[in-house]
Amino acid sequence: MAHKYPGTFISLEGPDGAGKTTQVRLLAAKLDAAAIPYVLTRDPGGTPLGKQIRHILLKPGHPVAPMTELLLYQADRAQNLAEVILPGLQAGKLVICDRYVDSSLAYQGYGRDLDLPLIQQLNAMSTGGLKPELTLLFDIESEKAMGRKHQGGHDRMENEDLSFHRKVREGYLTLAKEEPTRWRTIDASKALHTVQEEMCKIIGDHMAAKKLVFI
Ligand code: TYD
Repeated sequence: MAHKYPGTFISLEGPDGAGKTTQVRLLAAKLDAAAIPYVLTRDPGGTPLGKQIRHILLKPGHPVAPMTELLLYQADRAQNLAEVILPGLQAGKLVICDRYVDSSLAYQGYGRDLDLPLIQQLNAMSTGGLKPELTLLFDIESEKAMGRKHQGGHDRMENEDLSFHRKVREGYLTLAKEEPTRWRTIDASKALHTVQEEMCKIIGDHMAAKKLVFI
């Protein structure tokens, strides 16, 4: 169902500490300056309901069973799709989603060892099968990523140990290898401006191939 809408759907993925959020902020500033119609959203927390789910999911200090975790991420995603992503695509906008279905595969599948086909099924249910045209993987070694993470206050997922984060990273690399036409991998350990340039080039090339204006 990739081309049913006039908009462009891009997702950003990567392990915690890859610097994805900083990169997306820089990109948003450029899109604003160039007056490109876009929607920037995120999983979890792209909607008012999603913000509440995000709080439940990321607050440390209470147990969350892996299946509960998976279903809460899916609930957030279904709401984000209905409220933000689909309307944006239908309006012909560039929709950029900071994390999407692949986060569930990487974190709950590879990280928590939940059944991958089950997650794929749930991903399809919560999104009506809508996949991004392009997915950028901000790849970084887990040791480096953990070293980068903000000193003050870690959320429930960031608190997981190094072996969990390694499994997530390996999961992402496997996913990218399995679907090379959708994924582009960026070495997120490089300097901030280099990563930003690569990100803009990849998105720019994709937009140009669709004869759409970009920054
Ligand atoms: P967030 O602060 O958005 O992470 P980042 O800034 O690194 O993108 O927190 C989202 C956390 O939730 C992150 O640790 C990844 C995790 N997550 C899942 O485990 N499964 C999912 O389906 C999604 C969307 C996120």
